[in-house]
Amino acid sequence: MREAELPIELDRNSPNSLTAQVASQLRVAILNGVLQPEHTLPATRRLAAELGISRGVVVRAFEQLSGEGFLVSNGAGGTKLAVRPDINNRPLDDRKPFSAAPPVDVIDLTPGRPSGSPFQDRQWRSAWKLAVTEQGKVQLPPALGTTALREAVADHLALSRGLAVDAEDVIITGGTSDALQLVVAMLRNQTAQPRILVEDPGYPTARRVMTAAGARLATVPVDENGLKTTQLAALTEIPDAILVTPSHQYPLGGRMAVQERLGLLNWADQHGVLVLEDDYDSEFRHSRMPLPAVASLPSGADVVLLGTFSKNLSPWLRCGYLVVRGDAGQRLKATREALDTPVAGLLQSAIAHYIQEGGLSRHITRARREYAHRRSLLINRLGSRSDLKLSALDGGLHAVVRFNHPEATDVAAKALALGVLAIPLAGYYADRPPENGLVVGYGAVTDLQLAKALTILSGLIGVTMP
Ligand SMILES: Cc1ncc(COP(=O)(O)O)c(C=O)c1O
Repeated sequence: MREAELPIELDRNSPNSLTAQVASQLRVAILNGVLQPEHTLPATRRLAAELGISRGVVVRAFEQLSGEGFLVSNGAGGTKLAVRPDINNRPLDDRKPFSAAPPVDVIDLTPGRPSGSPFQDRQWRSAWKLAVTEQGKVQLPPALGTTALREAVADHLALSRGLAVDAEDVIITGGTSDALQLVVAMLRNQTAQPRILVEDPGYPTARRVMTAAGARLATVPVDENGLKTTQLAALTEIPDAILVTPSHQYPLGGRMAVQERLGLLNWADQHGVLVLEDDYDSEFRHSRMPLPAVASLPSGADVVLLGTFSKNLSPWLRCGYLVVRGDAGQRLKATREALDTPVAGLLQSAIAHYIQEGGLSRHITRARREYAHRRSLLINRLGSRSDLKLSALDGGLHAVVRFNHPEATDVAAKALALGVLAIPLAGYYADRPPENGLVVGYGAVTDLQLAKALTILSGLIGVTMP
């Protein structure tokens, strides 16, 4: 038996305990095949001295891994690896350098990642061919977007969303993050630090981007059905703008009732608040028809609809659009004209061709079928468990799994060591105590990967952890 080299690195500033760090790095080394059954582990006392930590920390980490079936005590012969059929024992020659990073073949359930298939699509390639062969494109693309893409977006919204939009009211953006920067830049022309109200829980990237762009954020606690008019009526300070996800509350997944949408518009009109409607994935409805967009309801309030190609095509494109109206619409256009566009003309041409040739709607139909299938897999695997609550299943590319114990961060850490990346719900909360749960994205994984990941997650949820 050879004694293993264990280059464990500890981070004393990490929120994870030293025991958890030692256990996690050993687990990853075992799963990566860096540690093999012919290895013994160093004696706990020696390892503790090398790492500069107490022996109890190492003992507890070893005990934890023994409990999980990764290690066995060999009596006087020390501790060695258990031979488990599910552990990836590669030959030593093949082994990777030790790394605390997750195994490379991790099943990534990060939400928001769509199916990668449009890039294999023949129509997608032919749209690009058309775009690169267009003649005479030597100028800068127009600041508000190419006419072809603005018209294509208007057509797409009419077809997929029942929205009657004038192409003149469409601004092409570099995705929602760029759109939010533009909105904040526009508001800052009037007030140095605009105040924007956001849902809690909500989209962390939106919070980060708007703060970095110079906005001051306030939060309003919401449940899965979003904001209530009564909450708006109780506000003591009126914001300059409010960002909502009425079609699919992010991340909890419900939708705002029509009465509440009308209430929001009424309040916004009365107080001159700009409504930002983040309509990020409404093409993907699984069980109920989408409600009319807030932007399509009659009102004197200024409403901006934020759309993106990140979900129905790919976030790799960094492209989206705004549908604007009213005074704020004019000011947004002027701000964009002043700032110029970050979106390549070539990309805009390709997407416009893809939409016009019917590629996008066909892709959405295909992806919708794929997501609906994976959604039913999720319901089959987890839906019958009374100790957890599944939500956000009406549409989109993710589900939320809430449970009482163990801590979702512990489940996520264990799942990662077993090759599954799932994000704790806590990261979506801003100012209020988070609920315990995980957000499970199923857009970019195969059925087989999802089934495997759900088996692992299901095995960890509800289990008492050391
Ligand atoms: C709530 C929400 N809005 C919008 C987006 C899309 O953002 P972008 O267009 O910047 O990729 C996402 C992506 O994850 C999201 O979760």
